[in-house]
Amino acid sequence: MCLQTIVDDIAAEMALVTERGRVADYIPDLACVSPSKFGIAIALADGSCFTAGDADEAFSIQSITKVFSLTMALGLVGDGLWQRVGREPSGTAFNSIVQLETESGIPRNPFINAGAIVLADILLANYEPAEVLGEFVRFVRELAGDDTIVIDHQVAKGEAATGFRNMALANYMRSFGNIHHEVDKVLGVYFHHCALAMSCRQLALASRYLACGGRNPDTGYAMVPARRAKRILSLMLSCGHYDGSGEFAFRVGLPGKSGVGGGILAAVPGIASIAVWSPGLNERGNSQIGSFALERLVEKTGWSVF
Ligand code: DON
Repeated sequence: MCLQTIVDDIAAEMALVTERGRVADYIPDLACVSPSKFGIAIALADGSCFTAGDADEAFSIQSITKVFSLTMALGLVGDGLWQRVGREPSGTAFNSIVQLETESGIPRNPFINAGAIVLADILLANYEPAEVLGEFVRFVRELAGDDTIVIDHQVAKGEAATGFRNMALANYMRSFGNIHHEVDKVLGVYFHHCALAMSCRQLALASRYLACGGRNPDTGYAMVPARRAKRILSLMLSCGHYDGSGEFAFRVGLPGKSGVGGGILAAVPGIASIAVWSPGLNERGNSQIGSFALERLVEKTGWSVF
């Protein structure tokens, strides 16, 4: 069956599902997105893209951004990063603080909020937040081959006003010496890079390097060495859905990264990069319909890594 027919069929099926999960409302601007939205995009190495539904509507990528910040932070400090962030699934909610107390302020992995806050601290290096964010947006635009990608400052502002849990995480890690810059600057980078607005098409295109051995297939340029791309994928598989990572691996069988905006990025190594979006979340904070759609896609294509 051709990929266009597959994504069209999946979008038609997902439109009929009535149990669509709950839209995140702890970030004010996310609360008003309609749960009826659904988009899917599959990008292949040659840049061809198969899309259906609301695949060209930009949404808040939230935690999916952590895949890009991990890629950039590894580029900056290499494997030294692993002295400040672990590589184990946490088995806890994305914003949990509990393990930090007994684990010296070192987050379990780069995809939980605490881990990504450390990544933001690493990216600050000797730069100002605006420079880091400028570089970040340029990096994602280059990957996607699309200059229109922007940060939604309204979303970032809303989260900055209400993100008390993240403030606690950053301050707590700073007390252990695992945050080196001013907490306000670190969180400024963190909230803004989570507020990147991208469509499924842009996300699928931007993450092709993960499915292509670390190379941007448009330029042939290595964004990360092949070995590192594999490792990012392995972390997505084990930690990309927080305490729902086991269930996602069980049902879908692909490395994936979710965000509370309702997006999920998944990679089929050597074949394709996929983005789905539906704003309603399941009880673990991962897109309910997005997970169904990926499960269906893997059934139809046989694309599980197992
Ligand atoms: O820090 C937060 O809570 C959000 N900016 C990102 C959380 C998120 O996307 C978790 N994903 N499922």
